[in-house]
Amino acid sequence: MSTFKKMVIAIDGYSACGKSTTAKEVARILGYRYIDSGAMYRAVTLYFLDNHVSLSNPRDITKALSQIHISFKVNSKGISETYLNNLNVEKEIRKMRISEKVSPVSAIKDVRVAMVEQQRRMGKEKAIVMDGRDIGTVVFPNAELKFFMTADMVVRAIRRQKELLENDRLVDLDEVIENIAQRDKIDTTRKESPLRQAADAIVIDTTHITVDEQVDEVVRQAVSKALKPS
Ligand code: DC
Repeated sequence: MSTFKKMVIAIDGYSACGKSTTAKEVARILGYRYIDSGAMYRAVTLYFLDNHVSLSNPRDITKALSQIHISFKVNSKGISETYLNNLNVEKEIRKMRISEKVSPVSAIKDVRVAMVEQQRRMGKEKAIVMDGRDIGTVVFPNAELKFFMTADMVVRAIRRQKELLENDRLVDLDEVIENIAQRDKIDTTRKESPLRQAADAIVIDTTHITVDEQVDEVVRQAVSKALKPS
C-alpha cells in the first residue's frame, strides 16, 4: 500500500500519444492503481461486435450493457489486464478490428453513462492514475492533477504501428494514420463528453520526448502537488 498522498491523476489526450504507457509507469512508481478507461470502451466494442449488437438499436444496447462486466486484474508480471465477463481480452481489444469500431461505440450516451459510473466507483479510494478522453473534464473534474497529452500525427502512427506489429499484424502506415485521424475526429466532435483539454490541465507534447521524460514530468508534478499543503 502506498504511503504517498492519495490523489486522482487524470491523463487525457488524443489517440496514440503515449497516455497508457505513461500512466502505467507513473502508477507503478507512485504505488497507485492504473485504470485504462479506453480499455473499457474497447471491451464494450468487442462484446458488441461478437454479439452482433446493433448501434442503432437502443434496446439492444441497454440489454447488452446489462450483460457486460469489465474488470482489471494484475498479472504475474505486475501488468494490469482487461477482463470481459471474467475472460482475459487484453490482447483482443488492442487489435485493429476493435480500433476501427471503438469511437462510434464510445460516442453512445448509454455506453458512456455505464462506463463513467464504473470509473467513478474505481476511483473512490483515490490513489489512481486513469487515462482516457474525458477523465479530467467529466469523470473526475476535481482530480488533483490533470494532464493533456498530444503529439505529431506521424510520430503517433509510427508508435502505434510498432505496437500493432507486436500484438496483431503489420498494418500499413497510411491505414494507421487514417484510423487515428478518424478516431480523433469522432472523439473531439461527438455530442457526449467530447475530448477537450480541461482548463487546469498541464499539456505534454510527446513528439520529441522519450517515455522516461514523459513519466518524469508527471511524477515530478505529482510529488510537487503532494508536498503542497492542501
Ligand atoms: O485510449 P484508447 O485509444 O484505447 O481508447 C479507445 C477509444 O475509446 C477512443 O478512441 C475513444 C474512447 N474513449 C473515450 O471515449 N473515453 C475515454 N475516457 C477513453 C476512451
